Amino acid sequence: MLPKVLILVFLCIGWSQVEAQLRVDYYNKTCPNAESIIWEEVEEAFFRDKGIAPGLVRMHFHDCFVRGCDGSILIKTTPGNKAEEDGPPNAGTLRGFEVIDSAKARLEQECRGVVSCADILAYAARDSVFITRGLGWDVPAGRRDGRISRAEETVDIPAPFFNLNQLTQSFAKKNLSQDDMIALSGAHTIGRAHCTSFSNRLYNFDSTNRPDPTLSPLYAFILRLQCPRNPQGTVDADRVVQMNLSPATFENSYYTNVLHNGGLFTSDQTLTTSPESLAEVREYAMSNRRWLRDFAESMIKMSKIQVLTGSAGEIRVNCRVINS
Ligand code: HEM
Repeated sequence: MLPKVLILVFLCIGWSQVEAQLRVDYYNKTCPNAESIIWEEVEEAFFRDKGIAPGLVRMHFHDCFVRGCDGSILIKTTPGNKAEEDGPPNAGTLRGFEVIDSAKARLEQECRGVVSCADILAYAARDSVFITRGLGWDVPAGRRDGRISRAEETVDIPAPFFNLNQLTQSFAKKNLSQDDMIALSGAHTIGRAHCTSFSNRLYNFDSTNRPDPTLSPLYAFILRLQCPRNPQGTVDADRVVQMNLSPATFENSYYTNVLHNGGLFTSDQTLTTSPESLAEVREYAMSNRRWLRDFAESMIKMSKIQVLTGSAGEIRVNCRVINS
């Protein structure tokens, strides 16, 4: 039998290994300017185009939900491999690749082969929330980059027509709770959506020839004006609407909208369909501070999904291409 003291030593080693996986200030010694370089790139891009911020927040979420936060969403499709960026939830709707690329180019000059693309994306998502007037947070870093990216694996990303149960299950598969899901959904307070992402709710919902009854009639009217049907009965694939009245400000109006049947997707409106989820929506609608704090906490949790650390994966030289 092992002496108690040895068992304690093993437990401590085991614990420190778990804790050592990701670390705040990870690049302090190896690339001390990493965070400020990434911030400068996000800031510059944001002042050119405010849509960069929502683009980067969403890209981090979609990265983490497919094979974990390993930068696999950044890998380009090649003749032999259709990558995540071209999977159905992503194709033609992702924004912000160029910001990651320019940050990476500067980081490779500053400290070659040190900062992973997965970490750049995690920092850039945090900076995007901060620059739109949300709360910042310390990003635990030390992720390594994956070498696999497959379009078909984007089925792990929840769909806009999901109901509460489906959303909860989809997040549970990634070890995130329903509370996390509700706090994170508030990211839909910034950005835009293509009409095709919600047009099923506007004209002929569930083959009823009527709009979705859970969508406010006034909001449905406005959305129909922005997303008119063409003679074929479809909507133009290029048309977009903004998520709400202040699509570049990270504040809790998302929850107030949902309470007034103004959720853009079924997946937004469905948050009012259980007493517990409704209570959380109400709480966030009442307190921006509370929501921003919970959002930051859930983002940190999300950013740790299935990360590659230690000697797993690689540090990509070019975020869009796996190392040869
Ligand atoms: C709960 C399940 C979710 C579903 C079903 C969902 C679905 C969608 C859809 C369909 C769009 C519109 C894409 C387009 O048409 O261009 C969108 C946009 C967006 N989503 Fe989500 N999303 C979910 C959760 C999240 C989470 C957890 C985050 C981040 C933490 C997030 C951040 C965003 C942002 C910022 C945009 C705007 C992107 C832009 O402006 O380019 N979403 N989402």
